[in-house]
Amino acid sequence: MEVVDLMKKDLGKVAAVFPMPVLMIGTYGADGKVDVMNAAWGQICDYDKIIISLTESHKTVENIKLKKAFTVALADRDHVDVADYFGIVSGNNKTDKFEKSGYHAVRSEKVNAPIIEEFPIVMECELFEIIDTESIYGIVGKIVNTRANEEVLSANGKVDVRKLNALMFDQFQSGYYTVGEKIAEAWNAGMDLAKSE
Ligand SMILES: Cc1cc2nc3c(=O)[nH]c(=O)nc-3n(C[C@H](O)[C@H](O)[C@H](O)COP(=O)(O)O)c2cc1C
Repeated sequence: MEVVDLMKKDLGKVAAVFPMPVLMIGTYGADGKVDVMNAAWGQICDYDKIIISLTESHKTVENIKLKKAFTVALADRDHVDVADYFGIVSGNNKTDKFEKSGYHAVRSEKVNAPIIEEFPIVMECELFEIIDTESIYGIVGKIVNTRANEEVLSANGKVDVRKLNALMFDQFQSGYYTVGEKIAEAWNAGMDLAKSE
């Protein structure tokens, strides 16, 4: 019996998950200043909850603990430079981090956090819990509402990912990508095989 697939090169311990999202976490500080950070280590963990793995020392974490709220927007192709900037600079060191971006924010009607106007879709979240273990410092948000620009919607009122141009993060080589073509329908592409004897 073959125990090693010699066709595959051994890469060692690589967290081989692709794509990762490019999430823009929006918060208010004690002084009411907007902060936004870039987060790729995040995902939906329940139908109405999102978890983001954050470094505890980020300004964003301080803000979330204080205001018990945050927004999560998807960064898109047109805003890749600023999205990356939000991941390079910290509000801890640069008090005008958001102002320098030239972007615009409005207060969410649902939670005490800013909505960044430039990003096409945003989830408005209340802090649900913080999971602090040896393996994760995870901020869990309860999604209380989601808003999207009209231009990214299909005629059926749902988001069309081909219009969204959402960024995907490639942790193998630190690249940003956008979605390409739709190649199949989920819960359908494998149906013939699932039904076959
Ligand atoms: C592509 C990319 C992804 C990132 N993902 C995360 C992440 O998931 N969690 C995290 O704690 N920091 C992440 N960072 C780093 C933060 O965005 C960065 O430290 C930022 O300056 C924190 O801002 P703040 O201190 O104003 O909150 C990422 C940075 C980049 C460029």
